[in-house]
Order: sequence, then structure tokens, then C-alpha cells
Amino acid sequence: QKPGLELAVVSVPSYACQRHTPLLHHNTTLTDALSILAENAELGENEGRGVAFRRAAALLKSLPQEVRGAEQLRGLPCLGEHSLRVIKEVLEDGVSHEVETTTHSEQFKAMKALTGIFGVGAKTADRWFREGIHTPSDLQRSGHTLNRAQRAGLQYYDELNLPVTKPEAVAIGQIVERAVHAVLPGAEITLIGGFRRGKQTGHDVDFLITHPDEGREEGLMRKVVSWLEAQGFLLYQKTTGNSYLESKEGPARPASNMDRFERYSHPLPQTLVVVGDHAQKVSWVLGHSQCSGPRSWRAVRVDLVVSPYSQFAFALLGWTGSKLFERELRRWAVHEKAMTLSSHALYDRKRVRTLSQTHTHFKYCSGSFLYYQIRDKLI
Ligand code: GTP
Ligand code: MN
Ligand code: MN
Repeated sequence: QKPGLELAVVSVPSYACQRHTPLLHHNTTLTDALSILAENAELGENEGRGVAFRRAAALLKSLPQEVRGAEQLRGLPCLGEHSLRVIKEVLEDGVSHEVETTTHSEQFKAMKALTGIFGVGAKTADRWFREGIHTPSDLQRSGHTLNRAQRAGLQYYDELNLPVTKPEAVAIGQIVERAVHAVLPGAEITLIGGFRRGKQTGHDVDFLITHPDEGREEGLMRKVVSWLEAQGFLLYQKTTGNSYLESKEGPARPASNMDRFERYSHPLPQTLVVVGDHAQKVSWVLGHSQCSGPRSWRAVRVDLVVSPYSQFAFALLGWTGSKLFERELRRWAVHEKAMTLSSHALYDRKRVRTLSQTHTHFKYCSGSFLYYQIRDKLI
């Protein structure tokens, strides 16, 4: 038997959330190639295609060794025809023609550069690209009217595209903690997103805030934002409403429960760009300058999420990511467990159907219980 063939007989579960996916893995050449195609599909608003490439990449990340030949992949789940073709090409030629063409295409480069502007999505970027705008400088020269987010995004373009490091995330965490405790002592702040998964850099820093006394978190976001604003930390802030996974795949909540649930249970995502006006204060933010010039602070994207204590476990699970992991977890809950998972709750669909009781789902909402159950037993 040729060495390496054992990969083919390893049984790999088909949902990404059932597998161990280490941060450092053995197949980066392949996953880098697939990620570019995923990104390109997402920029072209072809979500399904993007997910297919991301699933294939996630499968490769979970393998215990480097793939050297396509025959090792026989029988493995999540590898669609297109992904397999790309993988084979990279294994045989070192590069994939499609990936090369993509990375060098004007459209891909322009879409990446333009969506790299805070406040610019794929639709807007595509419209501008069609008008001949390919770079942030083109946009600046074009005289287009921009909204506040985009103006901030353009002004701080370079800084906001500089990866945020772990020490910066920790420093920002201290500011957020100060802000939160100033307006609500006893509140708990948790680092979520990529940093919680052990990543050393991120495109932003994400925090989840809650308070052990249910209800105390009401109005908290507004107060925290005012505090940060008053201290000169905020460059731009925006509160967003419904969230992407919830709105698209979200639970059909019991209608009778809707009003009460909606009133204060939304973990409100809040995007902040943290900077300061007072050099002294902000040098404390980062400790050192990340940008040229006399300024001793830099702009960083920060997402804050507030959740009621009873939903903390779900918010923590839902906002830790990765996006694909969350998607897979929800798909698995629906198809394999007949349950619906969101960042608010886990619904047992069989019970919700048979009982008209409105509080059924809170059965699952006991603090961190669910979170640990999922982490330890189900995945
Ligand atoms: P980097 O920031 O690049 O390090 O990656 P990240 O994994 O932290 O991504 P991001 O900050 O975009 O989001 C963090 C996690 O929060 C994601 O993995 C998603 O699962 C989740 N998330 C982001 N936006 C939303 C949203 O609008 N609704 C919900 N429910 N979850 C979201
Ligand atoms: Mn993040
Ligand atoms: Mn984020």
C-alpha cells in the first residue's frame, strides 16, 4: 500500500461542525486556492457557489495530513466536482488556471479593493466597477456622493485594511470594558469572533456583552456608545438590525411569542470604528503607532453585541464563528436533530409544534449549559 492512502479510508463526517478544524492545518495551498474562488463567488453575489468552495476548503482543513494525490480524496464528503477539479489541478501543476485568472482579473481586484472600503458592499462595488471605478482613489476622484460610513471607510482605508493584531484586540477590550462598566457595573464582556477561535489577527474585533441580571442589559448599547463617543473614541458608529443568518435561515418563532421576544432580545450588532481625538488617550489604546505621521492611534473596526443573560450561550456560540461553522451547525440542527438554532435560542421543533406553550424554547436557555453540551458532545 502506498503511503498516504489511508486518508481515503478515514471516515469524515459531512457537516463541518462535526469535525475538528484546527487553525493550523496541512493543506494550505489547496485551501488558499479554494478560498479565492469562494471569495470571487461571494463578490459576484453567488452565495451558493461560495458556500460550496468554503465547504470543500473546510473539509481539507480537517484532514490529518497533507493531500498529495487526488486518489486520497476518494469517498470524502463536501468535495464537489468543481472543487475537485481545482484541487487536482493544484496537485498536478502547482497552480490552478482558474485561480490564477481570477487573482489577475481586473474585476476581482477592483471588487476586492472597493468592498475593502468600510460601508461598501458587493452591489455598490459592482456598480462602480461598471462605471470604470477600480480603486479607492478612483472613487475619491469620481465625486460620487458617499454616505457617512463610506466617507469614514475611504478616509481610513489603509488603517482599516491593516489586520488587527491580538495585542490591539486586548487593548480595545480594555476600552470596551471601561465603557461598559462605566454605564453598567457587573456587566460581562467576552471576546468573540475570530480571536475567540484563536486567530492571531482579524479584520475587526468582536465583543459580546451581557449582565447576569436579566433585563439590566436593556438600553446598554446606546449608553456604551454615548460613553465612547463622549470620550472621543468613536469615528463612526452604526447599529444594525436583523442579522444575516437569522433573516435567511432563521427560526420560525412561535408567533404568540414574537412581541415579547422582539422587544429586548435582539443581540444588536453594533459596528464601531474606534479612534480617538486625544493623542494621549488613544496612545493608551494601542501602546504604539501603527501608522505613519504624528498620530498615535489608528482606526479599528469593532463589533459589539449585547445579549440578555438567558440567551448568552446562544449568542456566544452564534458569534464565535466561523461563518461556515455557524451555517453548518444550523444546517445540522435542522436536518439531523429536527431543531432550529439561532443566536437567540435552540428550538425543538417537535415540542414547539405539539405544545402551544410559548416558553418551551427557554428550556434550553440555561446559561452556558447548551454551549458546553454542543461543544463536548454533539460536535
Ligand atoms: P475576522 O473578523 O476577519 O477575524 O473573522 P471573524 O470570524 O471574526 O468574522 P466576523 O467578525 O465577520 O464575524 C464574527 C462571527 O460573528 C462570524 O463568524 C459570524 O458567525 C457572526 N456574525 C457576523 N455578522 C453576523 C450577523 O449579522 N448576525 C449573526 N447572527 N452573526 C453574525
Ligand atoms: Mn471578527
Ligand atoms: Mn465582526
